[in-house]
Amino acid sequence: MSDALLTEESVSAAVEAALAAVDAATDTAALKAARIAHTGESSALARLNARLRDLPPAEKPAAGKLVGQARGRVNAAVAAREAVLAEAERAALLEAERVDLTAAPVRARIGARHPLTLVRETVEDAFIAMGWEVASGPELEHEWFNFDALNIDPDHPARSPQDTLFVEPLGAHLVMRTQTSPVQVRSLIERGAPLYVLAPGRVYRTDEIDATHLPVFNQFEGLAIDRGLTMAHLRGTLEHLARRMFGEAARIRLRPNFFPFTEPSAEMDVWQPNAKGGARWIEWGGCGMVHPNVLRAAGLDPEEFQGFAFGLGIERTLQFAEDLNDMRDMIEGDVRFAGQWGLVTR
Ligand code: PHE
Repeated sequence: MSDALLTEESVSAAVEAALAAVDAATDTAALKAARIAHTGESSALARLNARLRDLPPAEKPAAGKLVGQARGRVNAAVAAREAVLAEAERAALLEAERVDLTAAPVRARIGARHPLTLVRETVEDAFIAMGWEVASGPELEHEWFNFDALNIDPDHPARSPQDTLFVEPLGAHLVMRTQTSPVQVRSLIERGAPLYVLAPGRVYRTDEIDATHLPVFNQFEGLAIDRGLTMAHLRGTLEHLARRMFGEAARIRLRPNFFPFTEPSAEMDVWQPNAKGGARWIEWGGCGMVHPNVLRAAGLDPEEFQGFAFGLGIERTLQFAEDLNDMRDMIEGDVRFAGQWGLVTR
């Protein structure tokens, strides 16, 4: 190999070439290649260094110093460039792996509470706030509680199989309760008077399913029995509830009606001035002053205790309060329906 002679020119040419290569390296891998090429065993500087041994002893110190300084410059340039490139690469990596700690997390939808449940709880809260108790009774009910104790005649049309689901064996006199009113009598027998109870629950009728009827639906029954209760107490209680469910502007009106278990009886309508399609009256449910025969069936003296009762549909309440067209949406179990009101996330 005919190597260049060890001269100031050849050394500085090797240094220039090395520094140019170091400058040209744009990443640490390229820099490593340049370092090996210009400072490694087969580099120009290494070969010039090897020629020291050919020199006469007197020239060796100066030539050795020349090569040593040249290698020092190149090594220093490599180290400086290395620091710059490594820092840039670290910064690029950090940027690439950046995590935005302020970004909104992806929430898992774990389901939704059903709006019927929310309506029921709102009604319960309204009555609990007035000091009432929440009661319940069986859905498979004895005919006596569902009809007889409520002063409903043995030949009343509601007792026909066209309206009521009778459960076999018929001799056991069990029905799927058609209303929550049997809880009136059960609560009076169990708890006695005075009594203020709200009884939400499922009821069953032989109705065909359509946009405004479900064969299985929910009611809440209210019953207040005390000394000296009047229709004015009934009216005030229901108007309070109407405002709670339909907004402060809601009003109620009572229209004469007939129920065997109340006297007088009334149909209650709610005035919804802010309904979507314009102000309207809606039929909300039945109510009245508890019939003396019901009080007697529960073992009370009607001369001492009086009171009022009402029964309202929870599905109807939801339908009117939220302006829903079709009750069937309430029973289909589609979480997209329930999710409009009661979305639960984690
Ligand atoms: N039970 C009646 C119904 O289902 C409603 C009602 C309850 C009426 C209490 C008067 C008093 O239609």
